[in-house]
Amino acid sequence: MTQDELKQAVADAALAYIQPKLENDSVIGIGTGSTANCFIDSLAGIKGQIYATVASSEASADRLRNHGIPVYDLNSVDQVDFYIDGADESNAALQLIKGGGAALTREKIVTAVAREFICIADESKLVHTLGAFPLPIEVIPMARGHVARELVKLGGDPVYREGVITDNGNIILDMYNFSIEQPLAMEQKINGITGVVTNGLFAIKPADVLLLGTSEGVKTLLAT
Ligand code: 5RP
Repeated sequence: MTQDELKQAVADAALAYIQPKLENDSVIGIGTGSTANCFIDSLAGIKGQIYATVASSEASADRLRNHGIPVYDLNSVDQVDFYIDGADESNAALQLIKGGGAALTREKIVTAVAREFICIADESKLVHTLGAFPLPIEVIPMARGHVARELVKLGGDPVYREGVITDNGNIILDMYNFSIEQPLAMEQKINGITGVVTNGLFAIKPADVLLLGTSEGVKTLLAT
């Protein structure tokens, strides 16, 4: 199977996973990226059964609306029942690196609210140690130099992502050459740097389930 076929397979598996659990008033959180886009397209097939969604980016909100799927502001819903999103890396504990699409802050906010976080990814994303994928960090623009210097002290090589402004009006620094042995402690440490909005480690609240697309089919992984 191609990588695109694996993404579509996990998107379909996520739909099959949540569909029996959907109630009349279920709110579905929607992630960002090419795998999340596959999920949005799958969701369109049952749009008549969808009460509400909340999106983690303007791009995903646009895609949902184009399918005629209702999108709400997070502040106007009382709960988010499921959050479905891709990842740039996952370890066996389902701690993730996210933010390759620069949507990490809104993704983390929707994750914080969601009752169940279902991560969907192809098998290339499963790693032993997080950090081969450069860790995205959303930063207030005026703090860029300060944050970059602090990140160098942590041992990585922060690189400004040229030409990218997040949906929140901020910039992204990508941390290269940074093997992350203790994701939870590192998530907290980087978030403690003044000027950081948030970083792309999802370890304080990891995924609850990982639907992993492999050549032998979709595997369901729970945190170990
Ligand atoms: C966007 C993200 C995405 O989930 C992550 O980059 C994976 O994207 P894709 O499904 O295109 O591989 O965190 O900010």
